[in-house]
Amino acid sequence: MIGIDNVVAGYTAEIDILRGMTLNVQSAEIVTLLGPNGCGKSTLLKTIAGFLLPRGGRVLLRGEDVSQIPVHRKIRHSGLGFVPQTENVFSALTIRENLQVGGHYMAKADCARRMEELYLLYPVLGRKFEARASSLSGGERQILALARALMPRPSILLLDEPSAGLSPKVLHEVFDAIVHVRDQERVTILMVEQNAMEALRISDRAYVLSMGAVALTGGAQELLQDEKVRELYLGGRAH
Ligand SMILES: Nc1ncnc2c1ncn2[C@@H]1O[C@H](COP(=O)(O)OP(=O)(O)OP(=O)(O)O)[C@@H](O)[C@H]1O
Ligand SMILES: [Mg+2]
Repeated sequence: MIGIDNVVAGYTAEIDILRGMTLNVQSAEIVTLLGPNGCGKSTLLKTIAGFLLPRGGRVLLRGEDVSQIPVHRKIRHSGLGFVPQTENVFSALTIRENLQVGGHYMAKADCARRMEELYLLYPVLGRKFEARASSLSGGERQILALARALMPRPSILLLDEPSAGLSPKVLHEVFDAIVHVRDQERVTILMVEQNAMEALRISDRAYVLSMGAVALTGGAQELLQDEKVRELYLGGRAH
């Protein structure tokens, strides 16, 4: 579904942030990207989405080379949804209006139908659809950001730190919402997470990045059970 083949990318001509990144995500998998601050996790998601165009290597979505296709075309034509790390909802708008923004390419009747589907999938949004996003809790905002990206029924979703700043209980609600969308709608999910242990519990596989390349990869269970990996990369021992 997602293929990243030896991708080189950066924000300025002189400095490569991604230095030959290679990874893949299969259909309906949940794959997590881990790694220290500044190692290039968000940059990779931005490069897949097309905010940044790679200067080397290839980005494949559903088998098609989309390396040079900019973000607005990918969201419209490649079945891609993206939830950025910050500013992922419009605070001044209501829940309903946020979802309408997510569905602005859709026909009006389809947009309304999809909103009803998402209210059923995430009842917390349905209960408060006229509330402004600014009045939502951190967890509710993350669920709104997820739902906004789901409006056009993407087949691939990129999530940048969906559990950032959330308490353990709310973190589980957001992760449950992510698993739910994969199970219900068969969406392929690539997410960046700092809550490594928790993220691995809902993931199929993970990649640990270091300085713009893949340092380590494996099945989520296998990584969780590896004492050395836990100490070196996951910030702790198993509970
Ligand atoms: N818009 C930008 N312009 C120039 N450099 C940037 C920009 N965004 C990020 N960088 C640089 O790219 C590198 C990787 O940043 P990136 O945001 O991808 O890291 P990250 O792994 O997501 O980190 P974090 O865990 O803190 O979110 C950093 O050195 C950062 O300073
Ligand atoms: Mg980041």
